[in-house]
Amino acid sequence: MNIVVVGGSNGAHLAEKIASIGGYHYSKVIIDRFPDGELYVRIPIDVSGKIVVYVNSLQKSPNESLIETFLTIDALRDLGAVKLIAVIPYISYARQDYRFKPGEAISIQTIAKLFRAINVDHMVTVDMHLHRISDPSALFGARFVNITGVRDLAKYYYTNYRESVRNTVVVGPDEEAEQWARIAAEELGGVEYGVMYKTRISANKVIVEARGVNVKGKNVLLVDDIISTGGTIVEAVKALREQGASEVFVGVVHAILVGNALDKLLSLGLRDLYATDTIMSPISKVSVAQTIQKHLEEIIGKMI
Ligand code: R5P
Repeated sequence: MNIVVVGGSNGAHLAEKIASIGGYHYSKVIIDRFPDGELYVRIPIDVSGKIVVYVNSLQKSPNESLIETFLTIDALRDLGAVKLIAVIPYISYARQDYRFKPGEAISIQTIAKLFRAINVDHMVTVDMHLHRISDPSALFGARFVNITGVRDLAKYYYTNYRESVRNTVVVGPDEEAEQWARIAAEELGGVEYGVMYKTRISANKVIVEARGVNVKGKNVLLVDDIISTGGTIVEAVKALREQGASEVFVGVVHAILVGNALDKLLSLGLRDLYATDTIMSPISKVSVAQTIQKHLEEIIGKMI
């Protein structure tokens, strides 16, 4: 059975790499705009009777990307794709997974409902914010796999800073990041790891305390899933330096980099600042294409 990989506006860079690694046919989806601002979507290849892998991240413009994704997936099904795998490396709205204040929309529930309606067979995400979602397959109505890009971040560190590894502590900026710090430390051959303590005051302001980690004289690899405003990393780096950390390296999965976040981070004098290509950014130095392809091979193997 034929397999084709199609890429949306925020996924074409990854889709092309995935197709090349897997030896699949690749096509970019044609996206245009009507004069009134509505999106126009066209699939320029024949997908009838084929297994289709659609790749698109729901950033840089989360709302636009969502509509583009829904229009494309629905069109692919309508045009005869027999199996549809949606690779959504970054899913927007996942952090609003709870009614933190009375009256709030639980946004990810609505997004998931829309994915259920357009009916995909399989979903693949990368380090999705799943802290309060215990059964994503049920929520999205599709077989669901959330893979991690943190091993790729650690491999990059190992390859480029091998001489630093022995004196490295991997640190997560908050308790939720423990899972990523643990994976990176494991990938670096079992170096020490720990987490800091973060209190979020508002969407733009956080306090990060370095209690619980001993970084004096050590190189620190600070790992997290997302850089949005940059507030978390800025405060974490300050706290690590106050504790006597030597060189600080920052590796994150999704570089959203809102507003002047990149400038704030570049002014910190980090030894390196890098991210994966789930979202393309000036610091996307690590590709997750190979990792995604490995999982796709397994998923497709079970479909054929
Ligand atoms: C929080 O749950 C995430 O893991 C990140 O720490 C957070 O989204 C980063 O946001 P910001 O860069 O705005 O501090």
